[in-house]
Amino acid sequence: MPSPIDTLTLTRPDDWHLHVRDGEALTTVVPHTAAQFGRAVIMPNLKPPVTTAAQALAYRDRIAAAVPPGIAFEPLMTLYLTDNLPADEIARAKDAGVVALKLYPAGATTNSDAGVTDLRKTYRTLEAMQRAGLLLLVHGEVTSPDIDLFDREAVFIDQQLIPLRRDFPELKIVFEHITTREAAQYVQSAGPFTAATITAHHLLYNRNAIFLGGVRPHFYCLPVLKRELHRQALVDAATSGSPQFFLGTDSAPHPAHLKEHASGCAGCYTAHAAMELYAQAFDAAGALDKLEGFASFFGADFYGLPRNSGRITLRRETWMPPASFAFGAAELKPLASGEALQWRLQT
Ligand code: DOR
Ligand code: ZN
Repeated sequence: MPSPIDTLTLTRPDDWHLHVRDGEALTTVVPHTAAQFGRAVIMPNLKPPVTTAAQALAYRDRIAAAVPPGIAFEPLMTLYLTDNLPADEIARAKDAGVVALKLYPAGATTNSDAGVTDLRKTYRTLEAMQRAGLLLLVHGEVTSPDIDLFDREAVFIDQQLIPLRRDFPELKIVFEHITTREAAQYVQSAGPFTAATITAHHLLYNRNAIFLGGVRPHFYCLPVLKRELHRQALVDAATSGSPQFFLGTDSAPHPAHLKEHASGCAGCYTAHAAMELYAQAFDAAGALDKLEGFASFFGADFYGLPRNSGRITLRRETWMPPASFAFGAAELKPLASGEALQWRLQT
């Protein structure tokens, strides 16, 4: 039996899907991400949402101001697609260095009220994006109350994604935070202009985690965790070595009192130990050799950006992350708070 790998040195990874919020929250969460990743794609679902290039630039400056001195970290900005985002904003976005637009079906998740009610209304903007080479990042769930919550991603593929893919064959689409076998299979079959991000929590947990010994709101996110066969399909996709699957934490901080609530917010906070959590998932699958492509290469390649040049090192070590972090005047409780982790980032 070969002895297990105890040290992993990787090209500095990137997080291709991240929520950092705004204001005081930035000072808690941005340093966590900047300690691990070279770049992160920043979600635009603020209140109000980021819908113009000028807003994205101002938000980028606020994030940059929260990066600790001496750390090189680049926030990659996105705009929030709405029914009436004008097509001529796309050229301004491109000039400002915005990399993508985010499609939230209206009402699908946190701060998605301004989202798209009918994809047809966005077609002129999507045409401009396809021409300019901006990516479309998709929250892939239908919102109809008639569709079971656990089926909303699979139904989205048939009702929305397949027609969209057909109508914009060269638009780069990232199916974000996929959670089902159907989504993994769809991406594999959809050709080189389609990719997907996968979170650490969807690789590590199935839906039992939400109900283990009582309702556990810190495991509640959207799309919601699915049954074990889906988790296994995601692990297979992430560890397959296919460049169509790459890292996106969807780390989504909420104050603890709004998660531990009668209608608790959706979102798992994982930025404090993101690479440690992914390493745990890849290790459990016997696929640590596949982590660097997933975390450090395939996302940059799909976005058409250079790969990072720095490195990070993870060591096998049992340690306990803090149970909570200060979050403005509130508390932020990370995923699996109080559980030990098996890998640790070396600083
Ligand atoms: O769980 C989630 N939280 N899913 C999303 O799509 C949004 C995110 C958030 O912003 O909190
Ligand atoms: Zn998200």
